[in-house]
Amino acid sequence: MTSFLSICSLLSSPRLEETVAIRGWIYRTRSSGKIVFATVRDSSGIIQVTIKKGNLPNVQFEAAVSASIESSVEVTGTMHKDERAPGGYEIRALSFTVVGPAAPYPITEYQSEELLLDNRHLWIRSREQTAVMKVKATLLAGAREWLGENDFTEVTPPIFTQNACEGGVTLFKLKYFDRDAFLSQSAQMYLESLIFALERVYSITPSFRAEKSRTPRHLTEYWHLELEEAWVDNEGNMRIQEEMVSAMVAKVLKERKEEMEILKRDIEPLKAVQAPFKRVRYEKMIDLLHSKGFDIPFGADLGAVEERAITEEEVAPVFVTNFPKECKAFYMKEDPDDPRTYKCADLLAPLGFGEIIGGSERETDLNKIIQRLEEQNIPQDPYRWYLDLRRYGSVPHSGFGLGTERIVKWVCNLDHIRDAIPYPRTVARVYP
Ligand code: 4AD
Ligand code: MG
Repeated sequence: MTSFLSICSLLSSPRLEETVAIRGWIYRTRSSGKIVFATVRDSSGIIQVTIKKGNLPNVQFEAAVSASIESSVEVTGTMHKDERAPGGYEIRALSFTVVGPAAPYPITEYQSEELLLDNRHLWIRSREQTAVMKVKATLLAGAREWLGENDFTEVTPPIFTQNACEGGVTLFKLKYFDRDAFLSQSAQMYLESLIFALERVYSITPSFRAEKSRTPRHLTEYWHLELEEAWVDNEGNMRIQEEMVSAMVAKVLKERKEEMEILKRDIEPLKAVQAPFKRVRYEKMIDLLHSKGFDIPFGADLGAVEERAITEEEVAPVFVTNFPKECKAFYMKEDPDDPRTYKCADLLAPLGFGEIIGGSERETDLNKIIQRLEEQNIPQDPYRWYLDLRRYGSVPHSGFGLGTERIVKWVCNLDHIRDAIPYPRTVARVYP
């Protein structure tokens, strides 16, 4: 049986003049009479294959002439240096087999964003999309490594829920047999319950938000990395965030240089992403915004425009702490030193990217939680189990949620969050 080599392994340790075998998909092809130049792509890279009449059976040569873009192929041939070829090497074919021929490919060089989104199932094969998916996998692997080293246990919370975590406005409601249920906005409350067994937990799940607004940073379905930690206060929570995020970025810098090149992402600024990150109180940020000409009152949440203004000159992420209560959720812990505010922090990515993490210390005072639910006219019944957590051995605890696609958007320097996920779901799109 032929043993196929990955293109990247061939390019990194070339087997000059040896016969090698590869398989993949035709990325580009042109022919001029007696010779076909086909660039072949596999999951690891691209390489030029030269198919010359006379060097292989004629039927195979003819197959190479007519093989169109995205046909899957198997090739054996000898490997040679060639300065003009991408990567600097070529394979001169001794055999060429089309495994699956391709119909005329609907995606050509200049295409509208709509066409690319309609053909997402094909577009994800592009080199840029492939690079983004690899960076995302490496960010997640970096997080999991760091979490494993720091005594976190991965858990699997539910997606069907009966209670909101982040407020009713962005809840997706569905019929659950003869009852109503919702798709989870956040695993937080379930993670809070799990710390009483495991102390430090995390989960990576889809979260759903019925976001009606079309923005370059909102999806209706995104992958949420959430942590919850017993015996940790808001400051400890921020330390966990900055160390985990630094470890995630460091792994990308170490392992994904080539992908960052494909994405034309300048990696220099990412080298500044090292704990500790700056901490600035919300109130100070409001002053800063006023000095920049913004007319924003204390108590208003920061939107994309404000976050851009705050972070455009930063090179590393920044924590904004102590948001006023009116712009955050009922479960956060009141700051005894400034009871207008919660012990919470959003982590904003630099250079205008904005919020990638929302986190806080959690309120442990049962009466305060009940009072806030009442003030906000939220029925208590679906939260019975959550309130129990404050009745049976409650402990100080904190946690946060990181939007996976938000961090990918920043690390890859993408214009739009839809390119940080293979099948983006937005208000306008659930196909393919
Ligand atoms: O700030 P959020 O709403 O916080 C929570 O859900 C907390 N319960 C998390 C926790 O403490 N366990 O969401 C957390 C993060 C945001 O910072 C953002 O990165 C991401 O989730 N996010 C979205 N990403 C893409 N599309 C959306 N519509 C998003 N909404 C939030
Ligand atoms: Mg938030």
